[in-house]
Amino acid sequence: MRIVLLGAPGSGKGTQGEMLAAHYDVPRLSTGDVLRDAVREGKTLGRRARAAMDAGQLVDDALVVGIIEARLADPDAADGFVLDGFPRNVAQARALERLLAYRKRPPIDLAVHLDVPIRDAVQRLIARGLETGRADDNEATIRKRLIVYMKETHPLFDYYQAEDKLITLNGAGTVTGIFGAMVQAIESHRANEAVG
Ligand code: AP5
Ligand code: MG
Repeated sequence: MRIVLLGAPGSGKGTQGEMLAAHYDVPRLSTGDVLRDAVREGKTLGRRARAAMDAGQLVDDALVVGIIEARLADPDAADGFVLDGFPRNVAQARALERLLAYRKRPPIDLAVHLDVPIRDAVQRLIARGLETGRADDNEATIRKRLIVYMKETHPLFDYYQAEDKLITLNGAGTVTGIFGAMVQAIESHRANEAVG
């Protein structure tokens, strides 16, 4: 199963992505997690990415494509994966297609959009910022992340819809309720594909 999760900051990509990866027994690959680890560990990647992350902007495509390229080369990603936070713009989506084709792997099966009212997303992120101190979970940076999402990531809905790979889900509600609806939607999409 090769799934891309799309959704605003705070929409639940990380939360649902972990559950989905466990359900399908594939790894969850999160560019945000890799970048935050690199910042914490003082790696070159972290030093290059930090300013953009703190400003709520996208990190350079070349850096994040490099992360995904390395992870897709790992044997555990050979049979599938859940991507959380990548791709985030059309250039990254094209790069992903090229990377998979280069490795002679099938293209992604589905893009799942977790659709959450902005107000809910902001509330969740502010709460997490207070709890965990994640650097970009403050009101000013959250606002910038949302603007970048609308401008850069929204075009991916059309991109995946054109390939009939887009599922949009209501991402408001309980974590388990959303997860159940997501698996059901994925399975019914797969069943339709199989029928042709
Ligand atoms: P990234 O780490 O991808 O962050 P994000 O997209 O802003 O999303 P979040 O991680 O904040 O939210 P989420 O959708 O994962 O939701 P979560 O499950 O955590 O990116 C961070 C930065 O890294 C970017 O701004 C950019 O600078 C850089 N970056 C990363 N990838 C990049 C790329 N491909 N290209 C360029 N730059 C890139 O949930 C949020 C909170 O809500 C949690 O506290 C959770 O417990 C809670 N929650 C979840 N679900 C529910 C629910 N149903 N009800 C109530 N609370 C809930
Ligand atoms: Mg996340």
